[in-house]
Amino acid sequence: MRFNSYAAKVLVKRVLLIIGGGIAAYKCLDLIRRLRERDLAVRVVLTKAAQEFVTPLSVSALTNDRVFTDLFDLDDEREIGHIRLSREADLIVVAPATADLLARMANGIANDLATAVILAADKPVLAAPAMNPRMWLNPATQRNVARLAGDGIHFIGPNEGEMAERGEAGPGRMAEVPELVSAIEKLLSSKLSAGRLPLSGRHVLVTSGPTHEPIDPVRYIANRSSGKQGHAIAAAAAKLGARVTLIAGPVALADPVGVTVHHIETAEEMLEAVKEALPADIAILAAAVADWRIDAPAAGKIKKGAKASPPSLALTENPDILKTIAARNAHRPALVIGFAAETESVVEQATAKRRAKGADWIVANDVSPAAGVFGGDRNTVHLITGGGAETWPQMTKAEVAERLVMRAAEHLAKTQISV
Ligand code: PMT
Repeated sequence: MRFNSYAAKVLVKRVLLIIGGGIAAYKCLDLIRRLRERDLAVRVVLTKAAQEFVTPLSVSALTNDRVFTDLFDLDDEREIGHIRLSREADLIVVAPATADLLARMANGIANDLATAVILAADKPVLAAPAMNPRMWLNPATQRNVARLAGDGIHFIGPNEGEMAERGEAGPGRMAEVPELVSAIEKLLSSKLSAGRLPLSGRHVLVTSGPTHEPIDPVRYIANRSSGKQGHAIAAAAAKLGARVTLIAGPVALADPVGVTVHHIETAEEMLEAVKEALPADIAILAAAVADWRIDAPAAGKIKKGAKASPPSLALTENPDILKTIAARNAHRPALVIGFAAETESVVEQATAKRRAKGADWIVANDVSPAAGVFGGDRNTVHLITGGGAETWPQMTKAEVAERLVMRAAEHLAKTQISV
C-alpha cells in the first residue's frame, strides 16, 4: 500500500515516524512492520544521525514509500515540503527521541527536516525518549521534557534497564515496540473519536466465514469461505468510526482491530449471536451459512465398518439468518445487506434472492472455482438495490469492503439522523 494511495487518504490512518539518531533506532524497523500489519500507513523522516544506525533503503523497503531526510532538498521542498509532511499525518511519532532532539523541540528550533516538521505540526506528537540514564536525569533534559509535556507532547517511556554501553543501567531505554504500538493506537483512536467519521455513533453488525455443522464429535459439514470478505467489511466499518460486532464462523484470520468478535461454529449459534447483538443500524451478512445441518449428529464418533454400507446422513434445513433479521419488526436494522454466492446467472439469481429474503441490498459474487473468490484476495461484485444492479470493477476484498461501507454510511446519512 502506498502512503498516498486513495485508500490511505480516505480510510487509512497515517503515522509520520521521525527516527532520531540513537542505538534504539533499530527497533523502529520492527515498529514499522507492526504498524503496517495493523493497516496503518507509515511515512518516515530520518535525521542525519539516524542514518548512522538505519539506512533509508531498509526503511523504504518496509514502508513501501520514499524516505525523507533533508530539509534543503529542493525537489522535496517543491514536491512535498515539511508543511505537507506534517499535515498529511494523523500522528507524528519521534523515536528514539534523543536528548538533542528533545532540546531542539523544547526550544522551537527547526534546523533540520525532523524538527521543522515537528514545529509545523497541527497533529498529536508522541515522543519515545531513549538515551543514557545520566543524560535523561540531567536537569536540562528534565526541564525540556516538562516543557514539552506542558506544550501537549505525549511521552512513552523511557523504561529502566541495561543500556547498550557496558555497565550502564537506569531509566533511558526506549519503550518496547508493543508498548509503542499500543500508545500509537490509543492516540489514533482518541483522535478518531474526537472527529466525526461517516459511521460515528452507528452500530454495524457483520457475519463472516463458514459455519461448521457437526456430523459427530469429530466430523462436520463446511464450505470454502475463508472469512476474508466479511472480516474486511468489519475492519472497514470500524475505520469509518462504527461500533462493530462481528459474528465469525471458524476461520484462520486474526480478529480485526477495534471490532468486538463473537466466535461461533454452527448456523444456529450464528443466529443466536446475531439476535443478541441487535439492535444495529446496519447488518451486513457476508457469512457462508450452511443451508443444511445433520438432523441428528451422533453423540460418539461414527465407526467405520460398524455397518455393511456407509452411513447415510439425514439433513434438515438451517434457519435463514438474513431472512429472519430482515423480517423483524422490533430491532430490524435500518439497512440489511445480504450477500449472494452464485455460480450462474449471478445478477438474476441475486435479484430474486433480494426479494425472497427481504434484504435491502444484496452484494452478489460469482463463486465458480474459476473466479477464485472463495479464499482469494480479490472479488468482482454486483450491488443489487431496489433501484437495480450495479457492477463494480474487480477489486481487492478490502476495497470492496471500503466501498460498500461507505455506500451504506452515505445511504444512512441521507435517510436517518445518527444517534
Ligand atoms: O469468505 P471468503 O473466502 O472471503 O469468500 C467470500 C464469500 C464468497 C463467502 C462472500 O463474498 C459471500 O458471497 N457470502 C455469502 C455466501 C452465501 O452463503 O451466499 P448464499 O447465496 O448461500 O446466501 C445468501 C445470503 O443469505 C447471505 O447473506 C448468507 O449469509 C445468508 N444466509 C444463507 C443461508 C442461511 N441459512 N442463512 C443466511 O443468513
